Amino acid sequence: MKATITATARYLPERIMTNHELEKMVETSDEWIRTRTGIRERHVVAEGQASADMSTHVANTLLERSNTDPSEVEAIILATVTPDMQFPSTAALVQNNIGAKNAWGFDLSGACTGFLYALECGTKFIESGKYKKVIVIGVDTMSSILDYTDRNTCVLFGDGAGGVMLEASEDDTGIIDSIMRIDGSGGEYLKMPGGGSLHGTSHETIDKRMHYIQQDGKIVFKFAVKGMADVSAQIMERNGVDGTDLTLFIPHQANKRIIDAAANRCNISEDKVLINIDRYGNTTAGTIPIGIDEAYENGRLQKGDLLLLAAFGAGFSWGSTLIRWGM
Ligand code: UT7
Repeated sequence: MKATITATARYLPERIMTNHELEKMVETSDEWIRTRTGIRERHVVAEGQASADMSTHVANTLLERSNTDPSEVEAIILATVTPDMQFPSTAALVQNNIGAKNAWGFDLSGACTGFLYALECGTKFIESGKYKKVIVIGVDTMSSILDYTDRNTCVLFGDGAGGVMLEASEDDTGIIDSIMRIDGSGGEYLKMPGGGSLHGTSHETIDKRMHYIQQDGKIVFKFAVKGMADVSAQIMERNGVDGTDLTLFIPHQANKRIIDAAANRCNISEDKVLINIDRYGNTTAGTIPIGIDEAYENGRLQKGDLLLLAAFGAGFSWGSTLIRWGM
């Protein structure tokens, strides 16, 4: 039995923050941000809005588009590094908001690879035969953990959510294969050290700005290109396909230069690569499901098409998923 995507959805908060706005906050320029990253603008949440709110918009759209009653949802798997609270889980908040009274669910911390990890779990739930309808969401409210005095990080990220409804496939379309990886030796290069059980919140952790993202961009860049290219090439090879067989490649959107380099190494031509980093920045777990929903809406995915997903992020974590599009 295969799992297949039967609905897609995304939510981007209304407020847009342009590069020019950031020029007023830190020593940067629109030109630097555009040429070094490909980003022109990003969305940020309104006061009081956070990951559960964005995810609830996504989940409600998924219910509507897949013609599902909330009571039919059996599990909600939500990938995020910016949950509304440490606990209860954001999945629980979403469950309550949509009235999925028969569901269970959990949050999953996989950073930028979070959505692929969550999709992997949901796929296996469906393939087991025990579950019929699983909601998988990738969401991040990156503005809540960005240091808007640090130009190395604050220009890179945005807020957003996306998701898919997973069900059993009635034909041979659906999720074909996946490769998931993790390597904690890269942990120090991209992290938010404060607020966990090691460095619980204190005046000292706040004074040291430990509740913000810290990144060594150069090192992450290098590993991201290699990581995404390696798993993408490997999954294509073991399934007997190459770049020319793909309809679309949706990579994690962290930096346009990382995407170009990874696609190039895998011989995937530019017209087959989805890029939306210019409008959204890096929404962490949100980038891939947002991209899937946009691609489907714009007619770039038709039944039978071959879709490759790839991501790389904190952990280090990385992975790729190959899909025969089913709707
Ligand atoms: O989602 C997964 C996690 N994240 C990533 O995948 C991000 C990976 N890394 C990157 O995308 C890139 O490394 C960055 C965009 C973060 C940085 O680009 P870079 O080409 O690697 O620049 P750099 O760090 O080597 O910095 C070059 C210069 C430096 O100045 P000096 O030392 O050459 O004088 C930086 O201080 O650019 C400076 N710089 C900036 N200048 C203007 C760094 N950030 C900015 C900025 N505006 N925002």
